[in-house]
Amino acid sequence: MAASPVTPQRDSWATRAGFILAAVGSAVGLGNMWRFPYVASEGGGAAFVALYLAIVAVVGIPLMTAEFVVGRLTQQSPLVAVRRLGGRRWAPLGWLFILGGFGILSYYSVIAGWTMRYAFDAVRNAIPSDTSGYFNEVSSGLDAVFLHLLFMAVTIWIVVQGVRKGLERSVLVMMPVLFLLLIGLAIWAKTLDGGDPGYGYYLRPDLGALLRPGILAAAAGQAFYSLSLGMGALMTYASYLRSKENLAREATVVALSDFGVAFVAGLVVFPVIFAFDLFDTVSESSIGTLFIALPKGFEILGRTGDFVDTAFFVLLFLAALSSAISLLEVVVTAIIDRWGWRRGRAALVAGGAITLLGIPSALDLAVLGAIDQISGNFLLLVGGLGIAFFVGWRIFPQADAELAQGLRSPRLRWVWGALVRFVAPVVLVAVLVSAWPATWAAVRTLLGLE
Ligand code: PHE
Repeated sequence: MAASPVTPQRDSWATRAGFILAAVGSAVGLGNMWRFPYVASEGGGAAFVALYLAIVAVVGIPLMTAEFVVGRLTQQSPLVAVRRLGGRRWAPLGWLFILGGFGILSYYSVIAGWTMRYAFDAVRNAIPSDTSGYFNEVSSGLDAVFLHLLFMAVTIWIVVQGVRKGLERSVLVMMPVLFLLLIGLAIWAKTLDGGDPGYGYYLRPDLGALLRPGILAAAAGQAFYSLSLGMGALMTYASYLRSKENLAREATVVALSDFGVAFVAGLVVFPVIFAFDLFDTVSESSIGTLFIALPKGFEILGRTGDFVDTAFFVLLFLAALSSAISLLEVVVTAIIDRWGWRRGRAALVAGGAITLLGIPSALDLAVLGAIDQISGNFLLLVGGLGIAFFVGWRIFPQADAELAQGLRSPRLRWVWGALVRFVAPVVLVAVLVSAWPATWAAVRTLLGLE
């Protein structure tokens, strides 16, 4: 192993738009498209949306700013960065990020693989009317493994090309297409007969739901997952930043775009469910519902449906791809910066290992669900707590000085400091405690104890 800790010519973004779109691309993903609408409708509609936004504002944006600050300050992979700034004792936090990258991408790619098959069959007009049988076929056995391999191959291929030619160029095309498709779909959904009650169901403000135990954990877990927080993905992207922009403003733009997409996704999904009476198919928010219900609705539409389902699954695919790239990038940059490997080799080896790790999820939805619970709802929050302590307490003066490069107002930086140092840790500890039972159950499932 060549020991060259610092890469001589480190990659960087060519434009500010490239960085922002890549960060939005990381954030906007499967989490927005199918997770948010369900979590929100179950959690009390508009009341949940308000709680979610509050968490994004007081914990999400400050911690995203913190990730950006560390990335730009060190110009290094998070694995190297936390150790260099914090000393040996902080090294485990860097490893936790790597673990998050492995864990999440391994099953994320499986779901993304399904979207590829759906998009492909939608173009060929070949989604059968038995959508639940179809979903079972796509999501199990060798079909699912093959799709997972294919999706990982595409992801690895983009990451191999590097920051400018791979990441930046692909998001500059993908994200605008994604936004247009989503807005088009939302307008179309508005025209559906009988879809209107869907809006009511999605957004009715059910204040009582906010008192249910676990609601805070659901909102925080969803926020971290959706914003790609807590595992160094956005820290990695910020490590390719050279310009001294206001990082708090960049984080706000990214977080609000992510929320916007999630919110609009709900405006597509619920009218469709109501217009086509798909409630039974989606009665619980399990993994496959969107994949079973929506094609069914689109089918009833005949020819328009053929176009709409293609648009929808291409959208899902693009969203998943730009997130998967960021997950792999965390691991790849770590290998490049820490051990001095070449990008191509690092991407192939890390991507290959993640692909292997994902095979059990491709073969068994129970494994997929358990890994989702553990890495998505738990690891990210632990990582977020680590980042809050690291930035808020270990390197605060340095971090504050770095933020000051773009954010001049001492008052705003004071607010940021208070949120990162005090508010975020308190909220996260509370959330972790309440997320523990479900996480423990998932660990037991994985170990075969249940
Ligand atoms: N934010 C992505 C989504 O919503 C998932 C993700 C999580 C990506 C963590 C990177 C890091 O689908």
